[in-house]
Parts: sequence; C-alpha cells; structure tokens
Amino acid sequence: MVLKRTHTCGELTKTDVGKTVTLNGWVARGRDLGGLVFVDLRDRYGVTQIVADESVSEQAAAIHVQAAQLRAEDVVGIEGLVRERESKNPDMPTGDIEVVATRLEVYSRAQVPPFEIKQELNVSEDLRFRYRYLDLRRPGLQHNLLLRSRVSMAIRNYYQENQFAEIETPVLMKSTPEGARDYLVPSRVNPGMFYALPQSPQTYKQILMVSGFDRYVQIVKCFRDEDLRADRQPEFTQVDVEMSFVDEETIYELHEGLMARLWKEFLNVDLPIPFPRMSYDKAMRTYGSDKPDVRFELPIRDLSDAVKGCGFRVFEETIANGGRVLGITVKGQGLLGRGALDRFADRVKEQASVPGVITMKVTGEGIQSSVGKFLSDEVHQAMAKAAGADAGDEQTPGDLVLILAGDAPAIYGKMGIMRLIAGEEFGLMPTSADREQDPDSWKFLWVTDFPLVEWDEEEKRYVALHHPFTSPHVEDQDLFEEAPQSMRARAYDLVLNGSEIGGGSIRIHSQEMQKRMFRLLGIDDEEAEAKFGFLLQAFTYGAPPHGGIALGLDRILMIMTGAASIRDVIAFPKNQRAQSLMDGSPSQVDERQLQELHIALSLSKKS
Ligand code: AMO
Repeated sequence: MVLKRTHTCGELTKTDVGKTVTLNGWVARGRDLGGLVFVDLRDRYGVTQIVADESVSEQAAAIHVQAAQLRAEDVVGIEGLVRERESKNPDMPTGDIEVVATRLEVYSRAQVPPFEIKQELNVSEDLRFRYRYLDLRRPGLQHNLLLRSRVSMAIRNYYQENQFAEIETPVLMKSTPEGARDYLVPSRVNPGMFYALPQSPQTYKQILMVSGFDRYVQIVKCFRDEDLRADRQPEFTQVDVEMSFVDEETIYELHEGLMARLWKEFLNVDLPIPFPRMSYDKAMRTYGSDKPDVRFELPIRDLSDAVKGCGFRVFEETIANGGRVLGITVKGQGLLGRGALDRFADRVKEQASVPGVITMKVTGEGIQSSVGKFLSDEVHQAMAKAAGADAGDEQTPGDLVLILAGDAPAIYGKMGIMRLIAGEEFGLMPTSADREQDPDSWKFLWVTDFPLVEWDEEEKRYVALHHPFTSPHVEDQDLFEEAPQSMRARAYDLVLNGSEIGGGSIRIHSQEMQKRMFRLLGIDDEEAEAKFGFLLQAFTYGAPPHGGIALGLDRILMIMTGAASIRDVIAFPKNQRAQSLMDGSPSQVDERQLQELHIALSLSKKS
C-alpha cells in the first residue's frame, strides 16, 4: 500500500517536532548501530534522517528489524514522529530533526547500483548514460533539470507578456540541407520519399509571418547530423522567435530584457543592459573569434609592420605572401620559466595546429625572444612597442608576448585559440567559485555585421554564413555580382562568455531578392523552385518585413549552471557517437520494417 505523504524529505524543521508525518523516498544510506538503525531517506526535495529505535515499543522493534535489512536505493514509505536530533547537522536543511519510524512500507527493493548515487563520481560517462535513471538521481543533475523546467516556464511567460503566440511547426518536413546534414525519415505511403527532421523551423516561422501572426515563439527540438562536441547534440532545443515589422534594435532590446529577467530571477545577478556590440570584423581581428570570450582582454596585436624587413625568413615570407605576424601580450608573465612556456606552446601547437609559438619576454634585463638570434635589438624594441609590452619595474615583472605568424585570415583564428588557452593557463578567467558575485563572470555581446557569404573551397561555391534567408545590408545590395564576399549580412549572434547562445537575422522578404541570393549560392531558379518554391510563392502574396532569432536553450542552461557540457542539462542526451546507451539507439530494425519502407540496405563490410 502506498502511504500518502504529508511532507517531502526536504522540508521538516524544528517547528515540526511532535508531528506525525509520512515520507516517501529512496534509501540514501543506512547505519546499523545495534538498537538504533538510521536511514537517510532521499527524494527530489532533500534528505531526512529516519531512526528505527527498538526500545520504543514492540511495533518499533519489528520496524527496526525491517529497517536493518534496507539497502541503498530501496524505495520505502515511512510514518513516524518528528523529534529533535541529539547531534544536529547544520549542513542539512533538515539537520535539526529526525523521524522516529512507527510504520515502514517497502515498495521496492534495489539491486546494488553500478555506481554510488553521489555528486562526485569517478566513473565513465558511458556507464552513467547506460544507467541514466540512476545518474539522474544525483543532486547536480536533479538541480539542473529542475532549473531547466523553471527557466523554460519563465521564458514562455516572458514572450506571452510580450504578445507572442506559441505555434507548433511540423517535425516531419521537407529535406533542404544547408549547413548540417539532415536526419531523414522514410515515408511508407510514398515509396522512395523521405521527410527530414527540422534543423530549425526557419521556413515555417517565416511563412507564419506571411500569415500575419506577427510575433511567434516556440520552444522546439531541432535535429542536426553533425559532429558532436561539448556544446553540441544531434537533437537540441531552441527558443525560436520571429517578428514582423521590426529591425535589429527591437530584437536586441527584447532579448536583452529576457536575459536580464532570467539572470535576476535564477542567479540574482543584475545584468547591465544594453549589451555591448561588436562587428564580426573587429571580433576576428581583435579576438580571433566570431564568438569572443571578453571576460578577459588580451587583444591580438599586429606586429607585421614592426618586423617588416627584419631579415628573419619566417616573418619575411609570411608577410610577402600576404600573411600576418600577430601577438598577444600577457601582463606580468615576463619571468615565466622554460618548462611552463614549453607546456603552453605544446597545448597551442596541438589545439591550433601551428608548427610553433614564438615567445618574447620583455623585462628589466632586456628583451629575450625564442628567435632572438635572427632579430636585431631595434626589431625587438619595435615588436615590444607594437605588442604594448613593457619591462615592468622593481615591483612588477615585465610582460610575455606570444607570437604566431601565418596566412591571413586563418592565422587570426589560430591566435583566437591561443588567446583562450592563455586566458585559462594564466588564470585570467573568473573562476566558478566567484562567478556569481563577480560582474566579469557574465559577458554578453552582440556580434553583428557578419559577411553574407563565404567561399567554400571544397564545394567551389559561395555558402551563406548564417542561412540563405538572411538579408544583406541595404547599402551592400549592389555588390551581389562584383564583390559578394564584401557584402555584410543583417545577421547577429548573441555571445555569452565565448559561447554562441543565439543567432538570427533580418530576413529577405521579396521573391526577387531571395532568388538573387539563391543564385549567388549556386542554386539556380529551377532548384530554388523545387526546394523553396513554397516560400518564394508565399512572398508574392504580401510578405511583411520580418526578422528573428533562435536561442540555444541547452547552451544557456549549461552556462547558467556552470556545467561542463550540455549533456548535463539534458535528461537523455546522446554520447559522443550520437548513441543513447540506455535504450540502445540507434538500432537495427526488422527486415519487415525495411520492406514496408521500400528500403534495401547496402552496408559495406566496415560499417
Ligand atoms: P543557428 O543555427 O545559429 O540559427 O542556431 C541557433 C542557436 O542554436 C544553438 N545550437 C545548438 N545547440 C546545441 N547543439 C547543436 N547542435 C546546436 N546547433 C545550434 C546555438 C545557436 O546559436 N534558424 C536559425 C535562427 C534564426 O535565424 O532565427 C538557426 O537555427 O546556441
């Protein structure tokens, strides 16, 4: 029989002493002290100490026997009397009391679990994923998923208050791969035909604007068959938004308001708004990334002019080929030892795929660089000046300059990787311990003015940087034919602490312009008609100017909770091989199922 609970395991305090209560939960641990058996009972709200005391009564003696046999993770109901504890535990909200059991109902026995249910675990992620139901009992994951639920609700409320309509769009849609690969779903009733799972509801939300819905939002699953990383899952959740009759400013303001609300409500942090903005160009040149982590400065300095004509072959050839010599200056690290420098350089070599890092120490003793024998004093001085490095004084050690040379623009990206490693290695990032108090812990940034297209060397065609529905800047629209790569898009990303947490754009809303864009991307009118005819046609029946954004909900939660991966804020994530080990997906299917779907497999031996 299920005992009807009167309280949860997280709420009883001294004020409840003397009450008869009923609790349900899992045995977190038991301690048998002979005449007394203590059981920590756990549910999603907390832990309460239960005591079975054989000296109280005959009935209690019977319960004592039962309690002594309980094992971790058994599920039980307890009725009992709340009493004040003799030895209190100030670290537990319920640490002042215990419940003396007068009735014990064992609902279910548990096997010995493959790992202990506790926060700090030293087992493989695969093992945790195989037993995800046990993993999810751990307090950290419980906290993350419960926070996720509350954050989703707050997001819905925010958009409701701002007149948005939540509208569901199809999960089975037409395949129009752009960017990542589609997940395909075969159609039984249309032999040889496939649906795709949406990479995002982009076209549907634009159609909803044509239909006059004006302000749309959806918290929606999206699917992308791409390589997985700590911040990428094959299925993930977007807060997907579209608005009519707006420009960038309205979208920025609304979403700054949303972020400020979430940070206040859930982290008690007052975010300064508006958020700063930075052009894509500046972000790349200064931070070597289109999602710069500006929790620390460490800007990239161009040393190319300083080394011009220096005679050192690596620098000379790089510059002659149109490349750049770039540096970052780490303040006060001019005395860094050889070993630490080598370790740093090894990390950079591996992660940024560069042959080596050139280092230069600027100290009271003069300038020492790893390529010193090739460079004159004047060149060293000019480089230190260009790098903004100084020699320090009696109190402060001098600076360390870290230099890479290579082809532009690729070298900027490599500098960006080195900059992040330096930020970490030299302790320039706020640590998680002080993140809530430290205003530098939350660095939001709009990155704007992305290029509209970039050249894809493999495919030998232009590809859209954001997506093909993004509008170019009005001033740049004449460059379609002569200089497509210099066209700027009305696209923006929302970046937080070096992570892209959202992206959107003002859209093209004229058929002519959309066709022009497709042509630029190597999609001729016929193909455009076959793939996106519905959208092109919709634009001819009265399309409002519109724009929108999609926020990555999983990434936002990952950063809010300080989790190392989005897998820690998703109930049932896939592992690095896109598998769910708990239920065993993906899996083979019956021959009959395949036949019904008109599918024949041709697997090579390897697969
Ligand atoms: P975009 O492709 O930039 O834009 O996606 C929007 C946001 O979704 C998150 N995101 C992911 N999160 C986890 N795993 C993934 N595999 C993944 N891919 C993307 C990121 C990203 O910023 N339709 C457009 C939006 C628009 O223009 O309105 C779109 O999907 O945080």
